[in-house]
Amino acid sequence: MARTLVIGHRGAPGHLPEHTLEGYRLAVRLGADVIEPDLVSTRDGVLVARHENELSGTTDVALRFPERKTTKVVDGVSVTGWFVEDLTLAEVRTLRARQPMEGRSVQFDGTHPVPTFDEILALLPELRQTAGRAVGIEPETKHPAYFRALGLALEPPMLASLARHGLDDGRPDVFVQSFEEANLRALRGTTRTRLLRLVDGSDAALLTAAGLQEISTYADGVGAAKKLLIDEEGRDTGAVARIHAAGLQVHVWTFRNEARYLPAWCGGDPAAELRRHYALGVDAVFADYPDTAAAARP
Ligand code: G3P
Ligand code: CA
Repeated sequence: MARTLVIGHRGAPGHLPEHTLEGYRLAVRLGADVIEPDLVSTRDGVLVARHENELSGTTDVALRFPERKTTKVVDGVSVTGWFVEDLTLAEVRTLRARQPMEGRSVQFDGTHPVPTFDEILALLPELRQTAGRAVGIEPETKHPAYFRALGLALEPPMLASLARHGLDDGRPDVFVQSFEEANLRALRGTTRTRLLRLVDGSDAALLTAAGLQEISTYADGVGAAKKLLIDEEGRDTGAVARIHAAGLQVHVWTFRNEARYLPAWCGGDPAAELRRHYALGVDAVFADYPDTAAAARP
């Protein structure tokens, strides 16, 4: 069985603001095999890395563009703030990243810009050379149907960037992730790049044998929320075995050091939580602290 890959989830956000080139560099220095940019689009159709299309949580946009504040419905949810699709790339380039998660260091807030997807892909050779090993990438299309409806579809520029960097040949450490089925099905017909269907806690039905059989028609793996694999009492749900039986990989999210994110069954020890997932045979773990995930790996 191949070694479980450590994915630097949004970079190394336990240590540096998420989705910054420095964060991705640090993730690999700390042991990540793969980096994970979440992708959204600027008004002029350039893909940049942010977890939300609303930018005030992870940048200083509110200070720089106070007049752009507005309210929108995003995937059925009313959101008030500043939206990446309302800013040009030139405007996004003026922003600086900030730490959105309580209790984490804010020492580097205001330091690092928001990278484009192309800049992240261009960083990969440096990351591989510095680490002296392979480094993969798992971009996630965020709100793909929403952006498509705005005339800012994420998939064409994403595929063009992957092709430009020679990463669209179906290699094993490049996956495109999505919570939405429709864009994965469409991508299946247009790219050899591996595809990962994300499944959150409310989607457990997708992990039945029948649900997984369906996923296997358009994806190569499942990106599952942790609680779908090990329940609150610490019992194996059987999902890893079912996913593998369907011929799919299992990537699991999200491992974080802080006590408030740990399930009761691991006794407050993030390494114990990781070791349990490694023993289950998962193929990759998304980790906010890639150092913790790499150190716990057998
Ligand atoms: O992409 C895997 C995991 O990152 C999904 O959650 O919300 O952190 O993008 P999120
Ligand atoms: Ca993600």
